[in-house]
Amino acid sequence: MNLPDLVILDEKDKRLRQISKEVTFPLSKEDKKTIQDMLDYLKISQIEDLRKKYDLRAGMGLAYIQLGIAKRIFVVVDEVEDQKFKNYVIINPKIISNSEELIYVGEGEGCLSINRDVEGIVPRYARITVEAQDIDGNSYTIRVREDLAIAFQHEIDHLNGILFIDKIDPKDPYKNQENMREI
Ligand code: NI
Repeated sequence: MNLPDLVILDEKDKRLRQISKEVTFPLSKEDKKTIQDMLDYLKISQIEDLRKKYDLRAGMGLAYIQLGIAKRIFVVVDEVEDQKFKNYVIINPKIISNSEELIYVGEGEGCLSINRDVEGIVPRYARITVEAQDIDGNSYTIRVREDLAIAFQHEIDHLNGILFIDKIDPKDPYKNQENMREI
């Protein structure tokens, strides 16, 4: 698999702060290709040999706006077992319910647009139900939990111009840690 030619915006780029717009259907050929490129990029980034070959950072999710395109689309690639991947293409998502329980990534969240270490934790719902559309415009609901739920919340934030670093108080980067479960 060749590395798709994607330019991922850096956190300083103001375009990341835009609120992305609802997507209408049918998707263009170009959009379908972009979605496939994003999925391929993430998969490559999760395969160690390829990650090293192309000098990438590992990523689980990518939102359209990270390519500078303000459409409400994101993709997530989840390694379900060794070298086996499940792809998610999420269009026009809305969180319709969430758990009370909060979780956080113990080692800290990462983002392909943030190329530095950031100290602190981000509170996320342990489980969410999302209503979205598939690549053909069909509506469906999906329930996700744990790391997948965090990835979805992180990407939905991107669609609203929010980066994970916005959710960390630099004066108290581990705020409320005792009320959340580490994953
Ligand atoms: Ni991100």
